Amino acid sequence: MMITYAILANPGHNRVYFKSAKTLAVAEFDCLQLDDLAVWEVLEGPIENTGKLGIEKIGRTLDSMNIAGLSYFTFNMQKPLTAADLQAVSRLSFVYAIFELRFAADDSFVFSPALIPVERQVGYFFDEDISTILKYNGKTNELFTRMLLNLGVSLADNAVQNVLDPLCGKGTTLFEGLMCGYNVHGIDIDQKAVDEGYNFLKKYLENGKYKHSSHKERQGLPDYTAVRQTITLQKPEILETLETLETLETLETGESSENAPSPKTASITAELISGDTKDADQFYRKNYFDVIIADLPYGVQHKGKNSENNKNDKKDKKGKKIAQNKNWQSRNALPIVAGALPSWHKVLKSGGVIVLAWNLFLITREELENELTKNGFTLVMPSGDTSFVHRVDQAINRDVIIGKKQ
Ligand SMILES: C[S@@+](CC[C@H](N)C(=O)[O-])C[C@H]1O[C@@H](n2cnc3c(N)ncnc32)[C@H](O)[C@@H]1O
Repeated sequence: MMITYAILANPGHNRVYFKSAKTLAVAEFDCLQLDDLAVWEVLEGPIENTGKLGIEKIGRTLDSMNIAGLSYFTFNMQKPLTAADLQAVSRLSFVYAIFELRFAADDSFVFSPALIPVERQVGYFFDEDISTILKYNGKTNELFTRMLLNLGVSLADNAVQNVLDPLCGKGTTLFEGLMCGYNVHGIDIDQKAVDEGYNFLKKYLENGKYKHSSHKERQGLPDYTAVRQTITLQKPEILETLETLETLETLETGESSENAPSPKTASITAELISGDTKDADQFYRKNYFDVIIADLPYGVQHKGKNSENNKNDKKDKKGKKIAQNKNWQSRNALPIVAGALPSWHKVLKSGGVIVLAWNLFLITREELENELTKNGFTLVMPSGDTSFVHRVDQAINRDVIIGKKQ
């Protein structure tokens, strides 16, 4: 039995990526590890009259189909989506609605294919507004951040529990991770950004009456003092329950889904550190993170000149510089990444995945590929891959690279 699903893309997705929306959707979908996905080569035209429906093969497993004037992404499964796979599909950054397609064998449907709605099961612990409310210059788009996180989660060997954004800004990755119920940790050199992200989260939790406690601590390093702000919160009730779906599935089939969602824990941690990302291994123990997600500095928002010793830098009691100043941000992100990768590699688990987005006008893909491999990561995509390249604006041509720690 072959089942065809159709996805209607979020109209906002087109606005984020313009002409590249389709390419990025294909690239994100192709990284999903769905259990019973039917690959095109295996199928011999699952659907007749393809010409009439305007089916276009646009990826290894994703097609595009025109139904009543609207374009849908479609894919074929050898079995119905399991609960875990439905969650993974529902969480794809471009998904607005999911349908199962039914093709009329006779004239029983007025329209063929008929679209049977499949309820999205994102299994989020927080409303999506946790990630959208904060708006600021230099914010990484939430849908794009969601895609980066999805790529890491899909490709990591282990069920994800701990997420690090080592260049977290005000914390978009952390908020997207919290929605999924992960422990989220961020490091940024810009103390003001870190404070704003932290204060926003605290307020959000207070307003939503989420039970939580918070803790602030300074950590002295040889050349500066980092500030660590941690929130521990009781894991909220899931907004709509994958557990319920799983129970139903278990009742119906007598077996539970192989791809179980991440283990339940009673509490979640959200932490923001103002410090230098090269010191990630001073803040966290080895092999702690399942995924590392970062959007590298774009070199376009730079204010002031680079300075190691700016007279405006705050000092602690012993005269050590406190990490706080955007002036530390280099125009070129390559030295930042090169200096931090050894430390990022240490704190990532084996089988863990690093996903980096960056501006191709600043760093070539080859340069980043070299840095990743030099530091012990295996490249997930073939060298020189262009699946994720997309234009953001005049000054930014963005790409994504994925590495794995073996
Ligand atoms: C593109 S922004 C990330 C934005 C973030 N994803 C968000 O949505 O808020 C890159 C970040 O890298 C930070 N950064 C630059 N150099 C750093 C360093 N050496 N250590 C830590 N953070 C650094 C910048 O302060 C900036 O916030």
